[in-house]
Amino acid sequence: MAIIQGRDIGTAARWLQAGKLVAFPTETVYGLGANARDEAAIKAVFAAKGRPADHPVIVHLADSEAASAWAAQVDKRARQLMDAFWPGPLTVVLPRHPQVSTLVTGGQDTVAIRCPSHPVARQLLQAFAHLAGPGAGVIAPSANRFGHVSPTQAKHVFQEFVGSDLEMYVLEGAPSEVGIESTIVDVSQAGQPARILRPGHIGADALQAVLREEVMPYAPQKASPDTPRVSGSLKAHYAPRTPLYLFQRAQLSRIIQAHQADRIAVVGCGPLGLLGEAAAQGLHQVRVLPADARSYAAQLYGTLRALDEQGFAALYFEIPPALPAWEAVHDRLSRAAAAF
Ligand code: TXA
Ligand code: MG
Repeated sequence: MAIIQGRDIGTAARWLQAGKLVAFPTETVYGLGANARDEAAIKAVFAAKGRPADHPVIVHLADSEAASAWAAQVDKRARQLMDAFWPGPLTVVLPRHPQVSTLVTGGQDTVAIRCPSHPVARQLLQAFAHLAGPGAGVIAPSANRFGHVSPTQAKHVFQEFVGSDLEMYVLEGAPSEVGIESTIVDVSQAGQPARILRPGHIGADALQAVLREEVMPYAPQKASPDTPRVSGSLKAHYAPRTPLYLFQRAQLSRIIQAHQADRIAVVGCGPLGLLGEAAAQGLHQVRVLPADARSYAAQLYGTLRALDEQGFAALYFEIPPALPAWEAVHDRLSRAAAAF
């Protein structure tokens, strides 16, 4: 048993076909893939992640033609979304095709599908469809242990699982450009408005412009036995191991005062100016992430991982602006902070 890293698409596709695990890059984050028709392989992915069995996973497809093998109905809205955003960072929730394993759907009557745009993901899904036949699908939760930060580079996947006795092929590729998980939109119920279940790179405005109808914005759900189980909806998720706290710029002087004897990292959303210079004195480390939401998202998880390795007492992240463009970043940051 070993983790093998490489760039060979053919090997990776054959591993999937043989029921083995393949981690691969997508434009959002790296996924931990398995043949979505192979229940033993799906169970192996859940076991590798330590993910509860009732959390559904996304099926990754080579193209939108494959959608009808997974969804009982691909209606007009679903078509419009797929035509506009695929390949790309949008996951569409549709009624489940009766032949889809309940392991994929977490026992729900809907299925989540997506066609990623990362060139390596596309090549892999096409090569796998060549072996497994049209309508082939690959489940791929983010390639991290349950609740931890998603990987955006092949080396993160390796670090996440090194030391385990898993057998896994890590298909290497360029880092994930988007850097946070896909937007999930639920269009499974005809007659009901489309609803955002997880905010991401593609916002409500963009969806609305394509559908020409109102889209229900993302609303964090309270856990209840009846709500669809969206694992990212657990309050504490995407979390580093070092305690993470959020701060407003006006609180920074007080934080520095309170932590004179601790080694903490302070992460600004854009330059922190004189406050940053004060924070950089002594034991603290100051980092500055970009002041635009897309670049910030692309660097967020890599920054969390890098800081996590440095043994800080705590990580203090500045709260980004309260604007729609930052919604997905707010969501990930507040979940990371909720773990502490
Ligand atoms: O960007 C992404 O979507 C990445 C890359 C690898 O493609 N994948 C990813 O997978 O984020 P994962 O398993 O970490 O998150 C999948 C999310 C979970 O929150 C899950 O609950 C939700 O999708 N989901 C899956 N099937 C669903 C369904 N039928 N209804 C509602 N939510 C669903
Ligand atoms: Mg995940």
